Amino acid sequence: MPTDAYRCGDRRSTVQTDRAVASSAIVTVEKRAAKHVPAAMRQMLALDDFEAAARRYLPRPVFGYVSGASETGASFLDNRKAFADDSFVPRILRNVGNRSQATSLFDVSYAHPFGISPMGLSALAAFDGDVALARTAGTMRIPSILSATSLTKLERVAREGGSRWFQAYLPGEADRIDAMVDRVAAAGFETFVLTVDVPVAANRENNVRNGFNAPLQPSLGLAWQGLTHPRWLVGTALRTLLRHGMPHFENMDAGRGPPILSRNLVRALGKRDQLGWEHVDRIRARWKGRLVLKGILSPEDAHLAREAGVDGIIVSNHGGRQLDGAISPLRMLAEIVERSGEMPVMLDSGVRRGTDVLKALALGARFVFVGRPFLYAAAVFGEAGVIHAANLLVDEIDRDMALLGVRDLAELSPSFLRRVS
Ligand code: GLV
Repeated sequence: MPTDAYRCGDRRSTVQTDRAVASSAIVTVEKRAAKHVPAAMRQMLALDDFEAAARRYLPRPVFGYVSGASETGASFLDNRKAFADDSFVPRILRNVGNRSQATSLFDVSYAHPFGISPMGLSALAAFDGDVALARTAGTMRIPSILSATSLTKLERVAREGGSRWFQAYLPGEADRIDAMVDRVAAAGFETFVLTVDVPVAANRENNVRNGFNAPLQPSLGLAWQGLTHPRWLVGTALRTLLRHGMPHFENMDAGRGPPILSRNLVRALGKRDQLGWEHVDRIRARWKGRLVLKGILSPEDAHLAREAGVDGIIVSNHGGRQLDGAISPLRMLAEIVERSGEMPVMLDSGVRRGTDVLKALALGARFVFVGRPFLYAAAVFGEAGVIHAANLLVDEIDRDMALLGVRDLAELSPSFLRRVS
């Protein structure tokens, strides 16, 4: 039974204490869906439904940037297939009443075993997207990770959001690293996620085909896209300009980056390709909070991370957006967990269903992160949409736990799975 009562559009998270209700979990979930979901969202029955809605709502360059992957999309496609390649072996007659999704990670108790991945340009796709995602995290008592390529000052997200995880892209330059670490610490973030799979920008041909650049270059094509997507133009673009002015890349460095719309500016990425383990040591020495590396796929790198005193890792191929053909995280998970000892291993890339979450946990992940569907939900429906999306996943996990024969996520193990292809 999910512990968070469902309150669409209401930021309070209400813990449901009446455990007796849990015995009629299926009925409750169905009633809740019918009663509280705003009419506009009633057709959003699964996370994938938000993608179709966002495809209609967003200008092509923006939707293409969010949905796209690199080159042939091989990793992106395999991220889904990897989940299908493991089937469940459910257990029966185990009294699965009073189910709990509570999950402890780094000694923090979260209501559910999933969080929101960092996503660049969220505030271009969704009005105040970075804050909406972080607020939902607070409402749902889950973490969300603010992206380095976000358009909202990290200090504001720390103040107004309900999550204290920040993700950085750093160059191999000590002074820029130190300044960024200090800025993130001063803002009150608790978890510093260093993404390590971006030594260079990926080859995203779809961005070129869709007319997407960062910064965006004003053009007739871009103007046409705005005019033919009036809900986005008024509800996101113009509303943002009026409320917050021209968005800038705010969090790439200690200082402010370029504006999102610019004819001739080029984003300075710095010496990202010179980042090495010595910089991880440097960050470890300077950052007093929890340090997480995101983008690990090799058991050897997991081992090195542990040796470097990192607190946790996110096994990820960046949602298929970096090295095309990079293996799907789920396929490496068990080996990585084995090399990681007590260091928590988390996973993202391709998680779309409660069953995916349970498969990753059964293979040893302590936590998973989900990206694009939450941003689609924020784009079309705002914060209420993200809450609805999160609740769909909560309900799926709850139902799937019962059908699988577990009451508590700690009961999951590889014995619940068989590789079928
Ligand atoms: C940003 O992190 C991206 O993958 O586009």
